[in-house]
Formats: sequence, C-alpha cells, structure tokens
Amino acid sequence: MKTLIVEIKEDFKDEDIEKALDKAAKVLNNGGLVAFPTETVYGLGGNALDRNASKKIYQAKGRPSDNPLIIHIANHADIERIAKNIPKSAYSLINKFWPGPLTIILNKKEIVPSETTGGLDTVAIRMPDNKIARKMIEISKVFVAAPSANTSGRPSPTKAKHVIDDMMGKIDMIIDGGNSTLGLESTIIDFTEEVPTILRPGFITADQIRNVIGKINVDPAVESLVVDCNLKAKAPGMKYKHYAPKGELIIYQGTQDKVIKNIMELANKKIAEGKTVGIICTEETKDKYNCAIIKVIGSRKDEKTIASRLYSILREFDDINTDIIITENFSDNDLGQAIMNRLLKAAGYNTVQV
Ligand code: TXA
Ligand code: MG
Repeated sequence: MKTLIVEIKEDFKDEDIEKALDKAAKVLNNGGLVAFPTETVYGLGGNALDRNASKKIYQAKGRPSDNPLIIHIANHADIERIAKNIPKSAYSLINKFWPGPLTIILNKKEIVPSETTGGLDTVAIRMPDNKIARKMIEISKVFVAAPSANTSGRPSPTKAKHVIDDMMGKIDMIIDGGNSTLGLESTIIDFTEEVPTILRPGFITADQIRNVIGKINVDPAVESLVVDCNLKAKAPGMKYKHYAPKGELIIYQGTQDKVIKNIMELANKKIAEGKTVGIICTEETKDKYNCAIIKVIGSRKDEKTIASRLYSILREFDDINTDIIITENFSDNDLGQAIMNRLLKAAGYNTVQV
C-alpha cells in the first residue's frame, strides 16, 4: 500500500490545514487509516464505528485483538452518542481536563462495535488537546478509534519519523504535525467501577483527579515496581510487553552516586565484550559519565522534559543498533510515576538495585 505523508507546519494558514485534513477525512470515511499527532503520542486512527477499520488497526499494529482502542472525539456532548450510564463525576472530570491527556472508560452503547472495544462492554474515550487532531475529527465527522501509532510492543511514536519507521506501506496516510508535546500516553480512569479507578498513570495525576471528584482507586498494577503475575492489569493493554527498544534495557535504582558508579562499571564491562552500550542520564548527571554513548533525557528539575523524550531516546538507541541501554531511575511521585511505569515496562522490569 502507498502511504501518503502530509506535513502540517505550525505556520500553516487555516485553509492549508483544512486542505490537508480534507484528505484525511476522505480516508477515514472510506474505512482507511490515518496516523495523526496528538499532544500525548501519535495515534493510528480509523472510523471507530466501522468494525473493519478497527480490524485494520489491529492488523497494521500487529496488536492482539483483545486489546481495546480509545475513541477520540471533538465535542464533550459526543460521549452520550457512544456511552451510557455516565456518572456525574465523569462529567466533572472531563469539564476540568478536556481537551487533554485524560481517557475515561464508560459503559458502551450498542453503536460501538465490539471490534473497537476488544470485545468489552465498556469504551475508552478521549478528547485530544492537539488542534490538528481535533480538527481532523471535526472535519471528518467520524469518531476516531486510535491506539498509539507504533508497531505493537515498540516505543510509542512522538514524532512523524517514528510513525514512518513503523507504519510505512501499512496505512493510507500519515499526518506530520511535529513533535508530541507531552510524550506519554493519557491517564486512563475507569468509571464503570464502584469507585473510579486509575488504570494507567499519565500527566493528569491521581491527586489532580481527587481534587475534582474525591475518592478514587489506583489499580495496584499501576504502582507495582516488579512483575507480579497475581496483579491482573484491568486495562488489557497494560499486560503486554510494551514500549520496548530492540536492545536490552536495564534500570539502575539507588542513590545517585552508587547508580552512576555501577552503570559505568557495567558499561565498561560490556564495551570490553564488544557490545554497543548506551547510557540514559540527566542534565544533572551527564558530566559524571566518561564511557559509552551518553544521551541526556532531560532535567530532574523539570520531569516534563524527561517524559517528552523517553520514547524518542529509546528509538534513537535502536537507530544505532545499541545492544545494551542502561538508565538511571527517576522519581516515583506524580509525573515520575507515569515515567517509571513506562520505563519499567520498556525494560521488562529488568532492574538492578544498588
Ligand atoms: O494518549 C493516548 O491515550 C494515546 C493517544 C493516541 O490518544 N492512545 C493510546 O492508545 O495510548 P493505546 O491503544 O496505545 O492504549 C490504550 C490503552 C490500552 O492499554 C487499552 O488496553 C486500554 O487503553 N483500554 C482501552 N479501552 C479500554 C477499556 N474499555 N477498558 C479498559 N482498558 C481499556
Ligand atoms: Mg500503545
């Protein structure tokens, strides 16, 4: 299949943006697939109410078909067309955080095919903050089912290059709208439980949500720092190997000095064995390393910088065929929790405590 790549630059006039999105709208209305930017990560979109489009999404990603998709909408009121039994607290939350990096899970209406929800009676819904994404949904008049636009298991895409690497020739169109500003997938909260429950951590933290709707639960699988087979993740996607680079990823945890010393020891050992070794460090620690390929992920003083570069840095190491990537660990509060949740999964929970 020929994949059309269309770039939408920041300085584009409205009419040029609309022209590009008209093409996307045609593709979506014809049951095709369009990868598009969102503020979290790039999405791989298809018509959520067209079961065949959803099947195509699973196929292009190589994703297990029991792993449901998120439906992207452009108007608050549209939740009522695809979901039922919507509690008041869900409205309070979306009024506060939409458009933005928050996905809510509700009971689905009949109109949503089971292919889109991985066979579940519930549906995940989000209104993205990215203008291109919302405009595409508006112009196409389609509810857009979209998982992250990566091949299943690989790091999520935060720029069009990542999507091109994974999806070229497999989908109809890729919209290049620059970098995803946040870089981590949305927070997911399930309103079909008696107490609303966070299934995936993200930019919108548990405390921010509590401030709006009071008591919530956090799925134990979210906070787990180890693989625990007894903890069955409620978001089906969270049980699969995820976000992984091709090389082996190892996380060192402990006090900063010890972490740096031990990372260098391992790096030197592996380099001596002829391996290509990468180190992920921060602005604060970069000068302490003197071996291996060093990449700075961001600053500990501003964890947003770390979040926005996490997936990109893993793919950069892949591009240079890095055998072993060793990383420092990050804080486990607020945004740090979302970062560590993804990093641990990317590493297959391969951690060393020093
Ligand atoms: O930020 C995001 O959410 C991005 C952008 C593109 O919007 N999308 C995204 O989609 O991360 P995906 O498919 O990569 O992750 C969706 C997660 C999966 O873990 C899936 O299992 C879970 O949401 N999910 C979807 N529907 C669900 C449902 N009805 N019940 C429980 N979990 C659900
Ligand atoms: Mg994903």
